[in-house]
Amino acid sequence: MGNMRREAGVLPRRAAASAVSSANTAASTYPAWHPAQKGEVRSPCPGLNSLANHDICPRSGKGYTIPILTDCLKRGLNVGGDFALVVGTAGIGSNPSPLTSGLYFDLDMLDRHDFLIEHDGSLSRADTITGDNHSFNQTIWDTVLAYYSGMTDATIPVASKARFNRIQTEAARDPNFSYSPVQFILSYGETALYLSTMGDPITGVAPLEYVRSLFEEEKLPYELGWQPPKTTTTLASLGAMALQLNLASGEQVPEGVILGEKSLRAALIGLNAATGEIENNVVYAVAKLTGALGSLTGVLKGLTGS
Ligand code: HEM
Repeated sequence: MGNMRREAGVLPRRAAASAVSSANTAASTYPAWHPAQKGEVRSPCPGLNSLANHDICPRSGKGYTIPILTDCLKRGLNVGGDFALVVGTAGIGSNPSPLTSGLYFDLDMLDRHDFLIEHDGSLSRADTITGDNHSFNQTIWDTVLAYYSGMTDATIPVASKARFNRIQTEAARDPNFSYSPVQFILSYGETALYLSTMGDPITGVAPLEYVRSLFEEEKLPYELGWQPPKTTTTLASLGAMALQLNLASGEQVPEGVILGEKSLRAALIGLNAATGEIENNVVYAVAKLTGALGSLTGVLKGLTGS
């Protein structure tokens, strides 16, 4: 994937307990890790890449269906089926022909820019204008780490400022910068995801070395003592954390958007998160088939606050 990996130089990393990532050793029991091999594909998402590198989600990176995703997000990170269903729907929407080829996606299909999930101003990837929107980019990630200088834990207030800085930086220098209300919501959701899964879905406190392992090595930090959080990450917890993150950054919310569970769900099933109108016909059609529309009436009510 052409990743540019080097020591960040911002924070020293603690040596891993074991240099060997193996399953079922006496000292540690965790699923064996190795990066993608020939013929395997990866995505712009450090979460999915890490799960695939441990073969918790399919190591090939191919043929991800809702049942496969639901199972591996739960086993790997204790992420709930409610989120797996809607994010999986958005993922399937990234398949160039989801309605004819079958309801699945391959990880490299998620590179598709501006379709729904992939966006500019990422925490650890360069913008599409550079020609590579999916590989880990240490230079960019260092600008996020700089916010954590002197800290051992990632927290909501600091993660929030680091995220907003990435948006402002690319908005100022990328002439093609695009950042729709959907991507505004999903970008907050992504920060909430790393704080929740590497730390705690309620407090958002995550040891920084765990976060760095996820981003820099695309490896779940078992060797550093991490275990999947006991509390399940759900759409509701992610929505609540997205709201807290936004309050901490002070970033202006797009007109009509109320950050939270409902808008996160709406964005991922192809609806306009302010009005509830269909915005992405393909994703909405996929959502009908996967069952992700759920009780749409509740979602629509929540969007308009009525
Ligand atoms: C539940 C476990 C997951 C975790 C912990 C996770 C975490 C993250 C994080 C932290 C980012 C931001 C990366 C950055 O800004 O540099 C991200 C990006 C992304 N994720 Fe995930 N994710 C998860 C699941 C998923 C799933 C299931 C999908 C798709 C079906 C997905 C698709 C994406 C995509 C396309 C991006 C790129 C967005 C961008 O342009 O920055 N993620 N994810």
